[in-house]
Amino acid sequence: MANPVVRVGVIGAGFVGAALVDILLDPTRRVALVDAATAELELVGVAVRDARRERPGVPPELVRADARTLAAEADIDVLVELAGGVDAAGEYVEAALGRGVSVVTANKALMAKRGTALARLAHAHGADLFYEAAVGGAVPILRALRTSLAGERIERVMGIVNGTTNFILSEMTDHGSDYGDALAEAQRRGYAEADPTADVEAFDAAAKVLILASLAFGTELRDETIDRQGISGVRALDVEFARRNGYVIKLLGVAERVGEHGLSRRVHPAMVPVDHPLAAVHGAMNAVFVEGQRSGPLMWLGQGAGGAPTATAVLGDVLDAARNRVSGRHDVPFMVDDTLVRVPAGDLESVFYLSLDVADEPGVLAAVAGVFGRHRVSIQSMEQSGFGDEARLSFLTHRALTRDVDATIEELSQLDVVDRVGACIRVIEGGAA
Ligand code: NDP
Ligand code: HSE
Repeated sequence: MANPVVRVGVIGAGFVGAALVDILLDPTRRVALVDAATAELELVGVAVRDARRERPGVPPELVRADARTLAAEADIDVLVELAGGVDAAGEYVEAALGRGVSVVTANKALMAKRGTALARLAHAHGADLFYEAAVGGAVPILRALRTSLAGERIERVMGIVNGTTNFILSEMTDHGSDYGDALAEAQRRGYAEADPTADVEAFDAAAKVLILASLAFGTELRDETIDRQGISGVRALDVEFARRNGYVIKLLGVAERVGEHGLSRRVHPAMVPVDHPLAAVHGAMNAVFVEGQRSGPLMWLGQGAGGAPTATAVLGDVLDAARNRVSGRHDVPFMVDDTLVRVPAGDLESVFYLSLDVADEPGVLAAVAGVFGRHRVSIQSMEQSGFGDEARLSFLTHRALTRDVDATIEELSQLDVVDRVGACIRVIEGGAA
């Protein structure tokens, strides 16, 4: 008996789209794909903005400029959205789902803003909406949360979910580079964009935390902001302080239960103990560390970006969607737990590291210590190093409320004797951020 045929349309032939087309058309993979899809996958069209440009590996007869028509009218079973952005991509995805066409996307920005509404639309029309590649590139963490850990009570998800920032921090750790040089190297290697804001100010990681939290805890994906601090304030001296004290600085995306009904979602640099599994994640790699009530700690590690690695995650979703088509079913969207209450980062306690550049003169230390004391922030240790007329003070606090530390920083930055307040970095002790 002939295999059923599942017709696939792709929007986008950039890094990820071109790599996906390459696998879909690779004759040596055909049998494996048919086995996994329980169908022949027929690539019916690849929509781009500029259809006149030559695209090695993408047959010219498949290239078209009408993404809207492909999504809204073409005879397809699965639409793969790899264009990026929110408005046009959202329109294509909605058009496809609205007529019962399953959608696979790698678009974290779209999913973080409109994921729940899109998942409901998919369900209402008997279609799938899969987005494994939106978090962690090739790392199959969303499927693990959605299936293997579906019945587990997750306590915390903690991830290095942005390869660019992990590369920059690794360069600073391994080579003593300062932030600017490490960023320039990331740009030279093609990790960081010319405008690196989305990565270094942690917008990209924040969208991924929202997606992870929605699957781990049942929060809705609907254009929320979370507590977010990027890495642009991290200096070589902070990295060196961390090294001397047995830590490495990482940008962590965290979603964790606080008490029975609280949930914190945040992204910030953190000092991670060198013996924590996340400390060993180097360069542009991604990793997600999950702590479940019964499963205990689990970790996934792999390439979080790049055309071919990301396309493998997209392909896995395409095969899942194809199998569902053939068997006439679709996956139900993620659950929503509306009993969870957002806990702002200000309400959380942590040990903090803070560095200050101050005038090196009598009374300065007392003035600075007084500010900590006034805001109930207890100092655990302090280091001083001198340079010219200035001194650098590096503090570790005892556990303190984040909002008290924020108030301390606010008042310190008003002091005449303080020239600069450096990055304020949470310290992870015994697994708590
Ligand atoms: P690229 O910028 O390399 O490619 C985008 C492609 O989409 C191009 O072919 C472009 O056409 C096409 N396109 C853009 N807008 C439209 C539109 N409105 N209508 C039709 N076609 C359009 O992006 P990437 O491949 O890097 O990323 C694609 C998606 O995958 C994004 O959502 C991204 O966040 C996600 N992702 C990417 C990763 C990566 O490592 N690159 C990792 C994980 C996720 P043209 O070529 O004519 O300009
Ligand atoms: N810019 C992202 C990163 C890749 O550096 O990890 C896509 O999510």
